[in-house]
Amino acid sequence: MKIKNICCIGAGYVGGPTMAVIALKCPNINITVVDSNPDRIKAWNGPLDKLPIYEPGLSDVIKETRGKNLFFSDDIAGNIEKAEMIFMAVNTPTKTEGEGAGMAADLRFVEHCAKDIAKYSKSDKIVIEKSTLPVRTAEKIKEILEENSDNIHFEILSNPEFLAEGTAIQDLFKSDRVLIGGDPTETGQKAVQALVEIYSKWIPREKILTSNVWSSELSKLASNAMLAQRISSINSLSALCEKTGANIGELSKAIGMDHRIGPKFLNASVGFGGSCFQKDILNLVYIARNYGLEEVAEYWHQVIKINDYQKERFASNIIKLIDDKTDNAKVSVLGWAFKKNTNDSRESASIYVTDILLKNKITVNVYDPLVSKDKIILDMRKLWSSQKLSLAKTEHLLSRLKIKTNYFDAIKGSSLVAILTEWDEFKGYDWKKLVNNMIKPSIVYDGRNLLPIQDESVNHITLGIKK
Ligand code: NAD
Ligand code: UGA
Repeated sequence: MKIKNICCIGAGYVGGPTMAVIALKCPNINITVVDSNPDRIKAWNGPLDKLPIYEPGLSDVIKETRGKNLFFSDDIAGNIEKAEMIFMAVNTPTKTEGEGAGMAADLRFVEHCAKDIAKYSKSDKIVIEKSTLPVRTAEKIKEILEENSDNIHFEILSNPEFLAEGTAIQDLFKSDRVLIGGDPTETGQKAVQALVEIYSKWIPREKILTSNVWSSELSKLASNAMLAQRISSINSLSALCEKTGANIGELSKAIGMDHRIGPKFLNASVGFGGSCFQKDILNLVYIARNYGLEEVAEYWHQVIKINDYQKERFASNIIKLIDDKTDNAKVSVLGWAFKKNTNDSRESASIYVTDILLKNKITVNVYDPLVSKDKIILDMRKLWSSQKLSLAKTEHLLSRLKIKTNYFDAIKGSSLVAILTEWDEFKGYDWKKLVNNMIKPSIVYDGRNLLPIQDESVNHITLGIKK
């Protein structure tokens, strides 16, 4: 089947970069990314230095493709109708209310997409699950599509996305693998081949895996769970290192050199953040529990519990380190994004650490090179609203949160600097000079083991090393 028109629903961190790369590699296919948020579409059509998401290399790809065979539009109906292939790349956050609240994936947005696809389709379509979804979601999508349409054949494929933010373009250009799950029927396999053909324009065939739909859906959740498990494993050991005098850096190196284990995802940190690991593992726990597999659920839940422990441990160490019982204690948080090279701060460890500090009467100065002041305040408001904090209490806590546009102002006058994101620019600061502008005990607490500080006069405390 020759695909000429693709529609992608969801112009976010996945929909935008993924479609831009497909457009670049397949100049004969017209791709339109649609979104229900008109501001996002406007920003995608706006200046290249103000795209709604930041990814290294993204603006070059957009420059090359936008207006040629890549378009951003808020005409959802028209673009569904026109396309032979439709990607669903909408968000699937953790449910906040109803059955499974706090654990299960909220499938409202995906279900809404499916209804729109059924409503606006006038010809057969290949519908692709790009969002990360619970295993067996395709069944539900099929039901929605069939119930809401007449005489149209929909083939559903699962094609989960494995890109990581901050390296999305490079990940898309050189994927470790592309996974495509489809039905074993003749039409199912034809649809699989149509998508294989698209990816094979730049991904070697042996890296394009095809499977049944359920394996594909579950592989995505399982991959994220395995990656997050490595971080929680190393973070749990960082706490043991701090008690025993073993050094977490040396441990990571020694463990990682066993090629059966490998060196990646063994960096101790203040805890993993991001929009996916936590929600996907919670979802996996929920699914296992639903199938009556309590031990399986509890096993994976521990990955989240260690992550929460690491964030809380870091914050309570700060409180112990500054040992200031007055209301004048000031801490600087450097880095708000959940990792470097992204403007995304969803589930960032900085939100949770800042929450604990503010509630302990500490004033917090924040500096991040990319995350805006409005976003930082919104992150805190969202957290406190989920904790059902009163408006008065929220405003009171916010009065102690100071967002700075340069690092010097953020650090000046505080007793401790906490590094929460591994931004490269932090490594280049003149730390000796900065520390001279702090007040006692002038500690640099490195939650990413990032800074190459050798100078004995700088009180630099790292994770997983006894001090
Ligand atoms: P996002 O929030 O950045 O983008 C989702 C977009 O979908 C939003 O712009 C929203 O307005 C739009 N949307 C929601 N419902 C819609 C509807 N009914 N019609 C039209 N537009 C609608 O989310 P994201 O980070 O791009 O993630 C999308 C999915 O991809 C999630 O399931 C996520 O788990 C998965 N994923 C994300 C990443 C990542 O690094 N962010 C990587 C791999 C997979
Ligand atoms: C992660 C996966 O890496 C992607 O493959 C997946 O597609 C994506 O989730 C998703 O499904 O959304 P992402 O969350 O963008 O990607 O970023 P990661 O590089 O995985 O980092 C996640 C968190 O773990 C960050 O806070 C990062 O700083 C932290 N981390 C990572 C560590 O603390 N230590 C490490 O060694 C590696």
